[in-house]
Amino acid sequence: MAILLPGGAGYIGSHTAIELLNSGKEIIVVDNFSNSKPEVLDKIKQITGKDFKFYELDCLDRKALEKVFEENNIEAVINFAGYKAVGESVQKPLDYYTNNITGALTILETMKKYNCKKFIFSSSATVYGDPEIIPITEECKTGGTTNPYGTTKLFIEQILKDLYKSDNEWDICILRYFNPVGSHESGLIGEEPQGIPNNLMPYIVRVASGELEELSVFGNDYDTPDGTGVRDYIHVVDLAVGHVKALDKIQKEGKGLYIYNLGTGMGYSVLDMVKAFETSTGKEVQYKITDRRAGDIATCYAEPKKAKEELGWIAEKNLEDMCKDSWNYIVNRGE
Ligand code: UFG
Repeated sequence: MAILLPGGAGYIGSHTAIELLNSGKEIIVVDNFSNSKPEVLDKIKQITGKDFKFYELDCLDRKALEKVFEENNIEAVINFAGYKAVGESVQKPLDYYTNNITGALTILETMKKYNCKKFIFSSSATVYGDPEIIPITEECKTGGTTNPYGTTKLFIEQILKDLYKSDNEWDICILRYFNPVGSHESGLIGEEPQGIPNNLMPYIVRVASGELEELSVFGNDYDTPDGTGVRDYIHVVDLAVGHVKALDKIQKEGKGLYIYNLGTGMGYSVLDMVKAFETSTGKEVQYKITDRRAGDIATCYAEPKKAKEELGWIAEKNLEDMCKDSWNYIVNRGE
């Protein structure tokens, strides 16, 4: 029985593919390379020494997706397919709603047709909006998302809750990621944002490499220890392992809808990240303080206790690993 990974060539999908293969699972990757490159598939094989099936398709293409289910025995789906750029989602809301929501619905309908009812979903801490308490627990109120990307995550969560209510033969696990950074220690795969990065760590590494001139620190007047925004940065390999643990749970226990925060429980400011990067890599990061970015919140970090207690999962890598591995990928790809 195989695990299907829509979006498995992307940043988090590819790291999860590695951890699944390393734990002995059979995987099938589907991707349309809208935000990833075919070479990633060879890198996954090189890192793990294992082979897997791949289909190039768009998850909106129901016929193509049905063919995958027709030709394989799929036990569970971990859905990484989706657009993820916050700013772009404000410019192109219809693209985001169609791709992310219709994509998820097409996958779920196809699963239902083939009686495959184990689903793990990549959600985000963004569903908490401006969180009512810190650290954020899974019981915190959701809603108040500030951009269409975040709202697609919120809506898909609701769809999954309604689906489970209608048929509790489903096993559904919603994973709310905090801020994924870093890359596989091999330096062979990593984050490849298109154009100028929006997120902090990809921006920092490109300033350190000389590709970009200086980092704009978006505001130093937040109610945080140094005035800059505080986030829960989590190493992407830790995040990937979280998916393996979530899969173990729904394979062994099943029958339920589970929601977990995947974060470290530690909050670091923008300036903490700049300093940690400089110390870990010996590279200087030029920065200037600018105005706040619209839609940003002051502080966001997880209470990760539930994932520890119920999945036996805990983030093991520290800030130094995150910085070193982010940098290692850039050095390795030769830019
Ligand atoms: N920041 C800067 N300069 C930059 C980029 C970011 O100062 O050039 C700051 C932001 O203001 C924020 C922090 O760095 O304080 C982190 O910003 P990111 O853009 O890296 O991440 P966000 O927390 O804004 O958003 C991320 C993901 C979203 C996800 C959200 C979940 O990008 O997809 O976490 O909370 F929804």
